[in-house]
Amino acid sequence: MTSSVTEAKQGETLLAVDDLKVHFPIKRGVLIDRTVGHVYAVDGVDLEIRRGETYGLVGESGCGKTTLGRAILKLTEPTSGSVVFDGNDIAGLKGEDLRRRRRRMQMIFQDPLSSLDPRQSVESILVEGMRAHGLDKDKESTRERLRELLSAVGLPESSLRKYPHEFSGGQRQRIGIARALAVEPDLIVADEPVSALDVSVQAQVINLLEELQDRLGLTYLVIAHDLAVVRHISDRIGVMYLGSMVEETDSETLYQNPLHPYTRALLSAIPVPDPLVEDSREQILLAGDLPSPAAPPSGCRFHTRCPWRQETRCDTERPVLREIGEGHRVACHFAEQIRDGEITPHEVEAELVEVEDTLNPDVNPGHAASVTEKMFEG
Ligand SMILES: Nc1ncnc2c1ncn2[C@@H]1O[C@H](COP(=O)(O)OP(=O)(O)O)[C@@H](O)[C@H]1O
Ligand code: SF4
Ligand SMILES: [Mg+2]
Repeated sequence: MTSSVTEAKQGETLLAVDDLKVHFPIKRGVLIDRTVGHVYAVDGVDLEIRRGETYGLVGESGCGKTTLGRAILKLTEPTSGSVVFDGNDIAGLKGEDLRRRRRRMQMIFQDPLSSLDPRQSVESILVEGMRAHGLDKDKESTRERLRELLSAVGLPESSLRKYPHEFSGGQRQRIGIARALAVEPDLIVADEPVSALDVSVQAQVINLLEELQDRLGLTYLVIAHDLAVVRHISDRIGVMYLGSMVEETDSETLYQNPLHPYTRALLSAIPVPDPLVEDSREQILLAGDLPSPAAPPSGCRFHTRCPWRQETRCDTERPVLREIGEGHRVACHFAEQIRDGEITPHEVEAELVEVEDTLNPDVNPGHAASVTEKMFEG
């Protein structure tokens, strides 16, 4: 695509997700599997990403970020809702059409070591995707393209003959990025792209992603459990809690003027280098653990931990994501009153949510966090 075409399209909606749900059945039974419940991993998410923008998606581990990312790419089949990419609903796409569409949406994973096949050389990892999409035309141009890709991600040409285990974590993530770029995508979903890396290497990988975006006009969905990671690179940020979006706005506004109690709590947990600022800042400690997505609380899903929870509505009515300021959407019944200081936070006592078989991991994966995280992270 020529740069003038790219520019003309900058800012248009590239991806529109509407009321997307992914519910995983929980099965139990010795001979016959019975569905005894569902994990409401993603439960009605709306979001739009514009061409050329970086959208940051944050929330605690287990709130559904990876599942949302995978459902957008149709790596996980959504239960309902729509995903429209560049004007086409991908829900109905199958076979060849889906494959072609996939070329334009690529994913970068949290743990590059487990997402790169240890038996394949870097060359074969990079060529594989190109071949699958007919981009591996002749030896010479493929060679040239491989050189270009490696130089784009800052790796020497000699890397082609090596295997993933011969690289450091940061270098492996560069290979993961090169693999995604190899098929010339428009959208890259980067799922916790730096969470597994040393702090000193994180900034380098983030800078690389930014530089590539400028050069190639890429659109990013960057997923992180840590707000600090997405702050600097995101144009807009969406905050997720238990399968839903609770707040969305541009990244500056989110930091200066967070309105949802959950966002406020997340922000108050980030340490500030300046001790004066640190002292004067409100500290909000969240009571209790993240409830199980298999038994989400009634009404507002955050009500069991919300320091602003009110007697009315919070426990019974699920708030919708609504526009409070320009481009600022919040899912809280009392967002305006909180903004205007009309209601103030109070202490919350952690509330026990009664669930049958809560501690049985087969029935309730949300409570077997350590197991499920290993199984499903990235
Ligand atoms: N394939 C699956 N089957 C059943 N439950 C799943 C599956 N994948 C994820 N989950 C559950 O869905 C919830 C959201 O998981 P995930 O999307 O990985 O969250 P995050 O990426 O925000 O940490 C978790 O409770 C997780 O255990
Ligand atoms: S709706 Fe109620 S419980 Fe939910 S975030 Fe707002 S004040 Fe808190
Ligand atoms: Mg995840």
